[in-house]
Amino acid sequence: MKREFLNLGGQPIANNFVKSLPVDDEFFFNLRVGFDEDSKLVSLMEFVDKRVLFNDHYVYHSSSSNTMLNHFAETARHIADSFRPAKVLEIGSNDGIFLKHFDRNSAFGVEPCGNFASMTNSMGYRTYPLFWNMQTVETLVDEIGKVDVVFAANCMCHVPEIMDAFASSYAILNDGGLFIFEDPSLMPVLTTGSYDQFYDEHAHIFSATAVVNLLERCGFSVERIVPLDVHGGSNRYYARKTGPGARPDGVQAILDTERDFGMQTFELFSEFGAKVEQSGADLRRILGEAKSHGGRLIGYGATSKSTVVYNYCGIGPELLDYIVDTTPSKQGTFSPGTHIPVVAYGGLPDDVTHAFLGAWNFEREIIQKEKGFVERGGKFITHVPRPRIVE
Ligand code: TYD
Repeated sequence: MKREFLNLGGQPIANNFVKSLPVDDEFFFNLRVGFDEDSKLVSLMEFVDKRVLFNDHYVYHSSSSNTMLNHFAETARHIADSFRPAKVLEIGSNDGIFLKHFDRNSAFGVEPCGNFASMTNSMGYRTYPLFWNMQTVETLVDEIGKVDVVFAANCMCHVPEIMDAFASSYAILNDGGLFIFEDPSLMPVLTTGSYDQFYDEHAHIFSATAVVNLLERCGFSVERIVPLDVHGGSNRYYARKTGPGARPDGVQAILDTERDFGMQTFELFSEFGAKVEQSGADLRRILGEAKSHGGRLIGYGATSKSTVVYNYCGIGPELLDYIVDTTPSKQGTFSPGTHIPVVAYGGLPDDVTHAFLGAWNFEREIIQKEKGFVERGGKFITHVPRPRIVE
């Protein structure tokens, strides 16, 4: 049974940027997060209907940052070189950032957002505009047969029916095949206070503990878990379709570290809930002080994560004049819930004194790009790993 440990209040759909104001039918839900005592899985207490989240108007482009472009080029090379799969299937193939590194006849996609499925279909990668489940597996087995590698990035955590998603991955694999997937990891969320990883699309934030529990229940054996820097700290899991075997030492070591950290007990999570309240209050104070000293504050990166922060902390256009973002479909809109204008990125204007890092997970890439802003005395503000002005 799930026990609630965090309440982030009324939240809109984090990626539902508002086209024009006033808006009278904006959808809000109460964002509460809980811990399942049995599987140790951390999930939203209530899931938002997936058709509301993943549809033909989905705006998040995986290719919007160099960090992710490089990451998926390397990942694809690693999978091709290490496993030489005859057929690869990507679940949640988005704009083809991963698929495009494979041969068109050997790589396939499943992507419920029709706008992205059309994009990769027109790139020559057969992509099925479907949600990932057993019914989809039946269609795929008929049309393309079983595959050697199933890959998914930042996708499994989107699926409320997670056991069905894992079992579907098992079903489409050839015997001995590999299910490789990566998602934001719970450990850095807890250690860096990045509560904004919890939003509508993230039905779960996975600990290795929970993932191994669930994968083993489906019949997989988890061979490797690799920590990654992307998305604020992720894990990549390698699970093989074989009979049950002993856990490799490396996997067991990660599970032991999580157990020692308290990942199997509710107490850890209730302490986290209290830390989040403090973080919200501190960020609001830091932004308020900068503003009251005559600062011109903006947001940098109109991320889903920043939507959570703005709504939780009550940060609107009275504090941040606007948000800059490089994604064309977000430009000219307003941030969900608190309605801060989102404008096209064209460098940081001279009158900007402080920029809140909505895309804190790209801090290194952004600070590198904005050397000029920093040199003229501009300051970045972040709430990760604690609310502060970045020095
Ligand atoms: P991301 O952090 O991946 O998002 P989410 O929380 O929505 O999963 O999204 C990054 C966003 O930040 C994306 O809208 C593009 C934007 N961005 C910029 O505008 N400039 C930049 O230099 C970078 C790295 C990202």
